[in-house]
This record gives sequence, C-alpha cells and structure tokens, in this order.
Amino acid sequence: MVVSLLSGLTFKSLLDVLVYTGKSDEKNKAYWRYNHTGIHVRSWIYSDVWDPSSEGHKSVKQVRLIHKSVAQRIAKDLKKEDSDKWVSQSDLAFTLVGFVGSIVIVPEGFGVTESQDLNDYLFFWRVMGHLHGIKDEFNPFGGSVLSAKRTVYDMAQFCLLPSLLNPPEKFESMARAVSDNYGLLYPFIRYATDLALDNNGSYGESVDESYREVIAKLYPLDSKEGKKQLAVMKWTYQTAYKYTIFRLIFDFLANFHLELIKLRVRLATWWKNKTGRNSLLSL
Ligand SMILES: *[C@@H]1O[C@H](CO)[C@@H](O)[C@H](O)[C@H]1NC(C)=O
Ligand SMILES: *[C@@H]1O[C@H](CO)[C@@H](O)[C@H](O)[C@H]1NC(C)=O
Ligand SMILES: *[C@@H]1O[C@H](CO)[C@@H](O)[C@H](O)[C@H]1NC(C)=O
Repeated sequence: MVVSLLSGLTFKSLLDVLVYTGKSDEKNKAYWRYNHTGIHVRSWIYSDVWDPSSEGHKSVKQVRLIHKSVAQRIAKDLKKEDSDKWVSQSDLAFTLVGFVGSIVIVPEGFGVTESQDLNDYLFFWRVMGHLHGIKDEFNPFGGSVLSAKRTVYDMAQFCLLPSLLNPPEKFESMARAVSDNYGLLYPFIRYATDLALDNNGSYGESVDESYREVIAKLYPLDSKEGKKQLAVMKWTYQTAYKYTIFRLIFDFLANFHLELIKLRVRLATWWKNKTGRNSLLSL
C-alpha cells in the first residue's frame, strides 16, 4: 500500500489535491489519513456494497461526496493550468491503477495465481471504479487481463518513471510523511521503479537504458539499512508471500506492527497537545 501511495504522489494533479486538503503533510496526520483510506477499502471488500445498509455502501457514498466537495472547494481556490477539472476522470483512473497496479504486473508476488484469480480481482476493481464514478470508457480495467497489464505497464513506463526523474515540488515532503511511518523513503521508491524496470518491454514499448542509472542516482540506497529494507521487501512480497503459511504469519506481524505505530502516533499527539512541542517522541 505504501508503494502504491508513493507512486500516486508522483502524479501532480493527485499530489496537488492532497497538498490542498492538508490532511497528510506530516507523519502523524498521514497515518490517520491513510488509516481511514484502509478502513474504507476494507469495507468495500468485506461487505456487500450493493446492500444499502452495508458499511461498504455507505463508504462509497461518503467517498464520492468527499471527492465532490473537495473538487468544488479546490476549484474556487486554485486555478488549474493544463486541464479544466479537479478530481477528473483521469485522476480517478490513475488512482485506481495506483491501487491495483503492482498486483496486476507481478501477481505471483502477492500470492495471486495467474488466470482466474487475477481476472476476478480485476473485475472487483473495475466495479469499484465504476461505483466511484469512473465512466466505462475511462475504466482502466474495462477489458481483458492483458489489456489491464498493458495499461498499468504504460503508466509505469511513461508516467511513473519520467515523473520520478523530475518530481513535482512537494513530492518528496509529502512522500516522506507517508513513508516515515513505515521505513525509509528511497527503498519504497526503488521497489516501485525496480518493478517497472524489470518489466521493461514485457507489455509494450521499452524504455531507455539510462533510466536505471538516473533513478539510482536520484534515489540512492547508500545506507546499509536502505539496502536491507529493499531486499526484505522483495523477499517478502516476491518470494515468501506466495506461501499461505507465511502470509498468515506475515499478516499477523504486520497487524501487530500497525498497532505499535498507532500507539506511537497517539503518544506523539498527546505529547504535542500537552507541551506544544513536536519532537521527542519521533521514535
Ligand atoms: C485503523 O485504526 C483502527 C482503529 O484505531 C484499527 O483498528 C485498524 O486496524 C487501522 N486500520 C488500518 C488499515 O490501518
Ligand atoms: C529495455 O529494453 C530495451 C530493449 O530490449 C533495451 O534496449 C533497454 O536498454 C532496456 N532498458 C532498461 C532500463 O533496461
Ligand atoms: C488537547 O488537550 C485539551 C485539554 O486537555 C483537550 O480539550 C483537547 O481535546 C486535546 N486535543 C487533542 C487533539 O487531543
């Protein structure tokens, strides 16, 4: 989820909205902002969104209202240069691809077997896209599994990579607010770029060889910790995650870790309220 989020932040029109709403520009705020995102997503998966009394149904309605009201407020306050609309169809489509993209490109890295599983998974997200207001002609998962792969691939090679070479101004600070809760920023970025580079040419045109070097220079893993974090992420998601037993253990540990992060965030908030000071508890 962190990798998907960071990829999303490279898109200026999404980043601008998140900067504008100001709910995730600092690590404790970002924690709660994305905790809420997680709760919404969970309700779409675990309840019946078609049932008007379900959590999922209420959540979708609420998210659409939030998008609408933010789009109206931001349009009043900020002029947009390139296109006319905030929270546009393409922004929604980009967000959806951000959510689902890495699983589409390396399903085996997330315990998803090719064929039927991936087909069903994409179907779920196609419907979610529809319910969140994406018109069918813009739905990135409206076609086959192969066409979804091509779409994700194109976005990785021709949007994500170029944007990381020349990121929007606020990218790094907003990205740090997210990643500081879970680890170092650059290994997360490198996880995404390595996926994109390793798939070079698999589902579309290839990208220039120079990308590898430039990315490595811009987002270096110069500490031992950084290298270790990337290696652990790769091993976890691309090797171990396909085994059910490991997945169960890992999910348990991850939930435990999330509880610890929550505790730290609560303490830090309490400390700030009491003393007006920020730091000390930036454990
Ligand atoms: C969000 O916070 C709630 C309540 O504090 C917690 O139970 C839940 O596990 C968190 N969910 C995510 C996805 O972080
Ligand atoms: C991508 O593939 C093309 C063609 O095989 C190759 O020329 C190019 O160097 C590759 N780019 C990267 C970044 O590996
Ligand atoms: C901060 O402390 C005051 C007084 O103790 C309390 O009323 C307020 O709700 C607290 N704010 C937060 C964000 O916890």
